[in-house]
Amino acid sequence: MNKKKIKTSTAEDSLLTVEDIDQLLESFRKTERNRYLDQSKKVITQVNLKEIRQKIEQATKIMKEIFSFVGAGGTIPISEIKEEIIPSIKQAAEIPHIYYLFYELQSKDEYTYRHTISVGIIATIIGKWLGMPEESLHELSLAATLHDIGKSRISKEILNKPGKLTTEEYNEMKQHSIIGYDLLRDIPSISETIPLVALQHHEREDGKGYPLGLVGDQIHRHSKIVAIADVFHAMSSSRVYHQAKPFYEVIQDMHNSAFGKLDPNILLIFLYKMMDNLAGKTVLLSDGSLGKIMMIHSFDPLRSLVKVNDDLIDLRYNNRLQIVRVVDELN
Ligand SMILES: [Fe+2]
Repeated sequence: MNKKKIKTSTAEDSLLTVEDIDQLLESFRKTERNRYLDQSKKVITQVNLKEIRQKIEQATKIMKEIFSFVGAGGTIPISEIKEEIIPSIKQAAEIPHIYYLFYELQSKDEYTYRHTISVGIIATIIGKWLGMPEESLHELSLAATLHDIGKSRISKEILNKPGKLTTEEYNEMKQHSIIGYDLLRDIPSISETIPLVALQHHEREDGKGYPLGLVGDQIHRHSKIVAIADVFHAMSSSRVYHQAKPFYEVIQDMHNSAFGKLDPNILLIFLYKMMDNLAGKTVLLSDGSLGKIMMIHSFDPLRSLVKVNDDLIDLRYNNRLQIVRVVDELN
């Protein structure tokens, strides 16, 4: 071992061995390397997000025009949707994780149009998570983007009403799934799954959905995926109070309220994938302490393994403790 000492400062006691310096240099290089990697990751994300943001805006604008055209009695311009909207949706679904797009997709104004684009993107991401082949994925993207097209024939007063709908208004709103089915059924160039998803995306596993009250296997798999994307986006947008909900809160809401209503297998994969992106992030726990998410359990994704100081806490076995929120969500 080389014990040669090198004077590094004027103070007599600040002498370092060559070994010390090697170690310091190695740790310095590592930090630099990580900083570089972090920076390059950030640049890629920022560039992609900027371009994707513009494409989502553009797609939303086109969707608004299509809604007003169809609302006035026009036929759904399917080629325009395939050429002008679907490529943007597919590009947005390429991002590393939905988390990056979460705040981007939250609807502020003109909920209906942005909602259809968002559901298109989220459903496409879910389809990828499920390992869906390219052809089905393409069908799913189109079906999800058109799931609410029937709303183009629902009155604007009902669509944009900020408060709760009356029973009569709600019954009229519910017609959008049948209207969408009718509008899409007559288009010859699309698969029959597209109108089916418009018809079924409000059906629920327990038979309490509409319009037909179908259960479980009676509902097409694409409709089940679109239902999850639809509920997730509606929850994250929280229209009535116009408040942007934090990511983890929406995941928690889905976990607490959607089992029994949405397909449990797809929902579990959805929640797992959503949570998986939070690994390594700092969270506030219900006892006020801060912890870091270390691992997500595939069968109980919200009750993850958390490190608090030097202790590892498995939330599956500690029911009194919960994650409250992610600290500095976007960092
Ligand atoms: Fe709908």
